[in-house]
Amino acid sequence: MFKGLILGTLLTSCMILLYCLSIQQIHFNLPEIPVPYSCAHRPSHLHPKATTNMSQKNSSQPCSPKVDIMFMKTHKTASSTFLNILFRFGEKHHLQFAFPDSRNDFFYPSLFQRSQVKNYKPGMCFNIICNHMRFNAPEVAKLLPLDTSYITILRDPAELFESSFHYFGRLVPFTWKIPGDDKLAEFLLDPHSYFDPKGFNYFYLKNLLFFDFGQDNTLELEDPQVDEGIRSISERFHLVMLVEHFEESLILLKDALCWEMDDLLFFKLNARKGSTVSKLTPKLRARALEWNAIDWKLYQHFNQTFWQKVDAYGRQRMAKDVAELRRRNKEMASICIEGGSAVEASSIQETDMQPWQPIGEKSIMGYNLKKNVDKAHRKLCRKMLMPEIQYLTELGVNLWITKLWGHVRGIINW
Ligand SMILES: *[C@@H]1O[C@H](CO)[C@@H](O)[C@H](O)[C@H]1NC(C)=O
Ligand SMILES: *[C@@H]1O[C@H](CO)[C@@H](O)[C@H](O)[C@H]1NC(C)=O
Ligand SMILES: *[C@@H]1O[C@H](CO)[C@@H](O)[C@H](O)[C@H]1NC(C)=O
Repeated sequence: MFKGLILGTLLTSCMILLYCLSIQQIHFNLPEIPVPYSCAHRPSHLHPKATTNMSQKNSSQPCSPKVDIMFMKTHKTASSTFLNILFRFGEKHHLQFAFPDSRNDFFYPSLFQRSQVKNYKPGMCFNIICNHMRFNAPEVAKLLPLDTSYITILRDPAELFESSFHYFGRLVPFTWKIPGDDKLAEFLLDPHSYFDPKGFNYFYLKNLLFFDFGQDNTLELEDPQVDEGIRSISERFHLVMLVEHFEESLILLKDALCWEMDDLLFFKLNARKGSTVSKLTPKLRARALEWNAIDWKLYQHFNQTFWQKVDAYGRQRMAKDVAELRRRNKEMASICIEGGSAVEASSIQETDMQPWQPIGEKSIMGYNLKKNVDKAHRKLCRKMLMPEIQYLTELGVNLWITKLWGHVRGIINW
C-alpha cells in the first residue's frame, strides 16, 4: 500500500510532466479548407454490391461500403475490440487513418484539435478517426469528409463506473485517502466527501461518458445543459452502439454502413478476469447510477433509440444475423486461438500478444495464437488477436510516450 502510494505519486508526476511537455500548447490558427467528399482509394472491385443482379436481392438498395468513419472511442466500453474491427476494415480498403502522434490518444483529456493529428495539414483527407479523444464536434468536422458516419458506443454507467474505478482509480489522487479494502464501496457510500472536481484525473470517476463527449460531467441532473448535451450527441451520431448488445450493434452497423458479415468478425479484446459477472451488489449499483446520473440518463436515452433501430431492422432478422455472427466468431476462435479462449497475462507466450495492464495489476486477459494455423487464416488470426498498442505500432503510429511509460512500469514490476 505504502509502496504503491509513493510510486504512484512519483510516476504520475513524472507522467504529467511528460504529457505536458508533449502537448502542443500553441494551436496555430489553421486555415479552413473543407474536405467535401471521400478521398478513399477505391478500385472498382470494391463495389461488387452495386453491380449484383438486382432481381436476386430486392430487399435493400444496392450499396457500396461506407469508408469514412468517425468512431468516438469512449472509455471502458469494449472499444478496443471495436478498434480491431476498424483497423482490419481500414487495411482491407487501404484507408487513411487520422492517428495521434507519440501516444495512443489525442491528448486526452484536452479537447480534440485537428493539429493533434499526426502529419496534419489543412485540406488533407482522412477516412477514419478512432483513437481516444475528448470529442469536439467542430474540429472533427473540419478534419473529415462531409458525409462521414459518426459512430460511438455506450455501456451501462454502473458497470462502466466500476470498471473505470478499477482501471484508473489509482491515477486519481483523491482516491488515495479512501480507507479500507473495498475503496469502491467506501467511495459510493459518500462520494461527495472524497470527490474533488478540481482534482487531477477527477473525470474518470463521474459521468465519464458525458465527459468523453466534450460535455461538463459535473452538472446537476436538472441543468438544461444536460438535455442540450444529449440532444447534440443524438443529432451528431448516426449510430450509438451498446456494449451489452455488442453483436446486435455490429449488425446495425453493417446495415447502416453497408458492410459485410466478414467485416464484423471479432474476438473480445482487453477483457478483464472474471468480467462476466457484475462486481456490484444491487445497492452499490443503485448508488453508482445515482452518482453517475447524467450518464444514466444518456444511456437510457440511447437504449431507447437502439431498440427502435432493432425494431426497424426486424427482431427476427436480427436474431438470425446475430446467431450467424456468433457461429462465425466461434469458428474463427477454433481456427485461431490456442485452447479456444482467453488466458491470463502470465500464460501468454508471445510479447506481441500481451495486452496493456492497469496500474499495479495483471487483470487483463489475452490470447495465444495457435501454432499451426493454416496459411489462409494465419494473417487474419494474428490481426484479430493483436492488442491495440501492438496493432497501432504495426499501422505506423509512433507511441514513444506510451511505450516509455510501459517500460518504466516493467522495470519496477508495477
Ligand atoms: C438476373 O438474374 C435473373 C435470374 O437469376 C436472370 O433471369 C436475369 O437475366 C439476370 N439479369 C441480369 C441483368 O443479369
Ligand atoms: C422480393 O420480391 C418478391 C416479389 O416482389 C417478394 O415476394 C419477396 O418477399 C422479396 N424478397 C425480399 C427479401 O424482400
Ligand atoms: C432498454 O430498452 C429496452 C426496450 O425498450 C427495455 O426493455 C430495457 O429495460 C431498457 N434498459 C434500460 C437500462 O433502460
